[in-house]
Amino acid sequence: MEKIVALCKRRGFIFQNSEIYGGQNGFWDYGPLGTELKRNVRDCWYRDMVSGHNELVAPKTAPAKYQMVGVETALIMNPQVWKCSGHYDLFHDMMVDCRESKSRFRLDQIRCRWVSFKDATVKQDDTGTELSKVMVTSTAEDFHEDMTSEALRVFGQKKKYADKLQWDGAATTLDKVDVSEFATVVAPGASKAGTLTAPREFNLMMKTIIGALGTDDDAAYLRPETAQGIFVNFKNVVDSSRVKLPFGICQVGKSFRNEITPRNFTFRSREFEQMEIEFFCRPDESAGWYKYWRDTRFQWYQDLGVSKDRLLLRDHHADELAHYSVGTADIEYAFPFLDAGEYGELEGVAHRGDFDLRSHMEGKLTKNAAGELEVELNEDGKPKHRGSGKDLTYFDDQAKERFLPHVIEPSAGADRATLAFICEAYHEDQQPDENGVLQERLVMKFHPRLAPVKAAVFPLIKKEGMPEKAAEIFGALKAAGLSCQFDQQGAIGRRYRRQDEIGTPYCITVDGDTLTDGTVTIRDRDSLQQDRIPADRIVEEVLSRLNS
Ligand code: GAP
Repeated sequence: MEKIVALCKRRGFIFQNSEIYGGQNGFWDYGPLGTELKRNVRDCWYRDMVSGHNELVAPKTAPAKYQMVGVETALIMNPQVWKCSGHYDLFHDMMVDCRESKSRFRLDQIRCRWVSFKDATVKQDDTGTELSKVMVTSTAEDFHEDMTSEALRVFGQKKKYADKLQWDGAATTLDKVDVSEFATVVAPGASKAGTLTAPREFNLMMKTIIGALGTDDDAAYLRPETAQGIFVNFKNVVDSSRVKLPFGICQVGKSFRNEITPRNFTFRSREFEQMEIEFFCRPDESAGWYKYWRDTRFQWYQDLGVSKDRLLLRDHHADELAHYSVGTADIEYAFPFLDAGEYGELEGVAHRGDFDLRSHMEGKLTKNAAGELEVELNEDGKPKHRGSGKDLTYFDDQAKERFLPHVIEPSAGADRATLAFICEAYHEDQQPDENGVLQERLVMKFHPRLAPVKAAVFPLIKKEGMPEKAAEIFGALKAAGLSCQFDQQGAIGRRYRRQDEIGTPYCITVDGDTLTDGTVTIRDRDSLQQDRIPADRIVEEVLSRLNS
C-alpha cells in the first residue's frame, strides 16, 4: 500500500488536501491523472448503468425490461428530509475519548485483547491501583503486531520478551466489551488503564449555516448520501418523464460524513463521491430485481478488470437485515491495507422495501412491538418528525392499482472504486531493455476504458520530420476526444516505462519507416506486442482497441 500511495503522489493521481498547510484530515485532492481516472470510473458507471442501457430489450439476466434516468440534486436539502430519513436521529457512530491523549476513536475501530505479563503491573487511572491483567488496544491495520508492542510498552518490557506475554481470549473490538470493563482498558498510546470516557453517540452529518443571520434555526446539513435527493424527487420524475415501473433513478455526486477516524488513504474520507441507483419496482417483483442488481453490480467490477479472487459478494445474515428487507449484500474488495482474508466495502446493494417513500410521505418510521414499521410518535401522540404529507404513491395503469413501489438500492462509492482499480492495476515485473538487460518495470494495468491516458505518441528522434508527423497524429487523437501524451524526451525504452507507470495502454512511435511507407508502430502495454499500421488509420485502430 505504501508503494501505491507513493506512486499516486509521484505521478499525480491523488494528493493530500491542502498539503502545503499540513493537510486536512479526511479530505483528498485528485491530480491530473487521478482526475481523468475518476472521471472514467464515473463515466463507465453512468454509461453502463444509465445512458447506454437499452430500455427496449430486457438484459439476459433481468426479470423484465426497465428504464433508467438520472438526476442531479443539491448538496443541501431541507433539514426535514434528514429527520424523516432517520439520519437526524440515527446516523451516528459510537465514539470514545482518551482523557490522557485527548484523542477520539470510533468504538468499533479499537481492537483489543486481554493480556498479562508475569509479575508486571499497569497503573489504573484515578485510583492508582496496580493491574496485573489489562486489555491492550490498537487501531492499526496490523493490529496483532501493534498490540504486542503496545503490551510490551505498558508492562515496561523489552521486545525480546514478546513470547512471555500471556494473551487471554481472542482479539475483539471495543464495541463488544462491556463499559464496566473500561477501567481495565489501556487506550491506544496511553500510559495507564482506564483513561477512556464512556461511549457517546456522534452524529455523522456535517452541519453548516445558511444565510447571513447564522442562528441555529438556519442550520442545515451537507448530504450524507445522494439517495435522499432521488426519493424526494420521485414524484417529480414520474410526473415529468413518463417513466413506468420498473425503473431506476440514478445520481452521481458528493456526499459528506463527519467520520470520527478517517483512514486508509481515500477509503474512509469525510468528503467522497457516491454513484447510487434507486430502482423502483412492484413489491411482488422486488425479490427478482434484488437478485438481478446484486449480480449485475458484482459483475461490473470484474468487467472493468478486478479479479474475482479479490472480490467478495457478502450477503448479510438474516439477523443483520431490517425486517422489511428481503436482502442486503455488500460487494467487497481485498484492499492491500487490510489483513489477509479481510475485505473492505466497495458497494452495498440493499432491498429497502417502501421505507423511504413512506417516511417522506407519512413521517419518520420506527418499528413497533410487533416488528412492523409505523410513524414514530412523541409523548403527546403527534408524529416525532412529520413527513411531507404529499402523495408519493404510484398508479399502475395496467393493473389499475395504486401503491408505494419497493426499492432496490445499489449504492457505490466512486472514490473506493477508483482506489480498488488503482490497487488492482499495480504490477511489478521485469522487461528487457534495448540491450536485452532485464529491468524492473512498474506497470499500472488499468482496463483501457479506465486508463487516464489512452495513448502516447513518440517521435523516435527529434529530427527528419518525425516530431511534425507525431504532432499530426497526436492532434488527430486529441480531436477524437482521446486523452493522450506527447513525449520526445530520452531513450524510447525510458518513454515506454514512463507510460507503463501511468497505465497508458497504447504507445505509438513515428520512426524512419513512417516517412517512407506511412506506417507507425503501436505497442500494447500488456502483451508488449508491436504492430505496424498505416498512420492515417491510427485513430480508428486506437478506438477499436479501446472498445474491444
Ligand atoms: N444510500 C446508501 C448509502 O449511502 P452506505 O453503505 O453508507 O450506503 C454507500 O454508502 C457507499 O458509499 C459505500 O459502499 C462506500 O463505497 C461509499 N462510502 C460510504 N462512506 C464513505 C466514506 N466515508 N469514504 C468513502 N466512501 C464512502
